[in-house]
Parts: sequence; structure tokens; C-alpha cells
Amino acid sequence: MKTPGGSDAAKRRAGEHAAALVTDGDTVGLGTGSTAAHAIRALGRAVDDGLDVQGVATSYASRDLAREVGIPVVALDAVDRIDIAIDGADQVSDDLALIKGGGAAHAREKVIDTAAERFVVVVDPSKESAALDRSVPVEVLPDARSTVIRALRALDGEPTVRAAERKDGPVVTDNGNLVVDCAFGPITDPAALATDLSAIPGVVEHGLFVGLADEVHVGHEDGVTVRTAERHD
Ligand code: A5P
Repeated sequence: MKTPGGSDAAKRRAGEHAAALVTDGDTVGLGTGSTAAHAIRALGRAVDDGLDVQGVATSYASRDLAREVGIPVVALDAVDRIDIAIDGADQVSDDLALIKGGGAAHAREKVIDTAAERFVVVVDPSKESAALDRSVPVEVLPDARSTVIRALRALDGEPTVRAAERKDGPVVTDNGNLVVDCAFGPITDPAALATDLSAIPGVVEHGLFVGLADEVHVGHEDGVTVRTAERHD
């Protein structure tokens, strides 16, 4: 679920700062969410000014926004490489592990962010935490809902099927699946939990992104700080 808080000015600074990294000829992974949207709008303005780029969208929402602001959008399976991906996060730990999926887009985000040569995360300071402790979004095949929920409980999680807000029933992802938000309390070993979640049959993808972020751009009221990590491929 979405993290409450965080000023739009801080998100805009982070998004615009990351968008400035994009260079002529790049194929850009276009993240999902309110912070990544600022990067997409900034890239659209750069395209207006002559920047030659193409985007690969992580969701219907980012695809629609990219088209609206004039960024050429291509399908993931039509590109050989993604030079840079710019994406938001719901929580960022001190060692740059992420929780993503507040907008239920984490499955496609993980494919594109992992494939990118450079994965840049854009957040406001409300997303920073020494350790991850938010619920982890888990995208689930609809028919596997009950078996996955039992498996999540066996991992000491507290799962809740995400309900839609302006529709009766559950959220249905861009991929036609459900989302289960699973609380684990403080996550002391995100890599181990990520492995356990990936091993559950019926889990399409989970929102733990461990060892993927190359850098995190944190927007503040008066500037941007950049945190970098060694990439673990
Ligand atoms: C989409 O599913 C998420 O992974 C978003 O990237 C994440 O929720 C961050 O969104 P905001 O920038 O709107 O907080």
C-alpha cells in the first residue's frame, strides 16, 4: 500500500534530478508512482527540447503519462537493452533494499529495473528507514490466493488481500492478478525473505528489491542527496 506523507516538492526534485541523468539515445525504464511521474514529465520536457530517447513503461499508468508528455514508448520485448530505469519506492533501507508495489506495479517494475544497466530510485525522505518494516506487496495468481496466504502465514506473515478503492472486490493488477500485502514486522534479512517469497508456487512477484538499486536520489525541500550502492548482479 502507498506510503502516506512526503511532499510533492521533494518528490519533484528527486524525479527531475534523476531525469537529468538521461542522455541522447537512451532507452529508459519508466517507473510507476507519483515520484517517478515527475521524472517522466521532466523527460517529456527534455524530448520537447530535442532529447532523443525512448521509454519502456512499467505500468499502464506510466505508459499513458509517457505518451501524454511525448515520450516514444516501446514494448519491453522490442528492446535489446535498457540504459537506465528511474522508479520510486515505498521504503528504502540503509543498505538500499527496497519495498515496492504500493501501486501494484512491482512485477513489471522488477523486470525492467533489473534489466536496466543503471537503476535509479527516486524518493522523498519519508521513504527512508534504517530497516524495512512495511508490508510487502505480493502479486498472486488469482486461483492460488488461498494456498499463497497459507504459505505466507507459515513464514510468520500477516497477509491481507488488497481491496480496490473505487471498485467492489480486490485490486486486479495490470497482469490480471491479485495483490496480497503481507506484514512481517521488521525485516532483518530481506534477501532471505525474498528467496522464501519467490519459492511459493502461485507468487508471480513480490515487492522486495534486494541488491538491485544502483543509487537512490532523495529529494528534500532544498535539494537532492544521492546514495549509491555496489550492484550485486
Ligand atoms: C508502484 O507499484 C510502486 O512500486 C511505486 O513505485 C511506489 O509505490 C512509489 O510510489 P510513490 O512515488 O507514489 O510513493
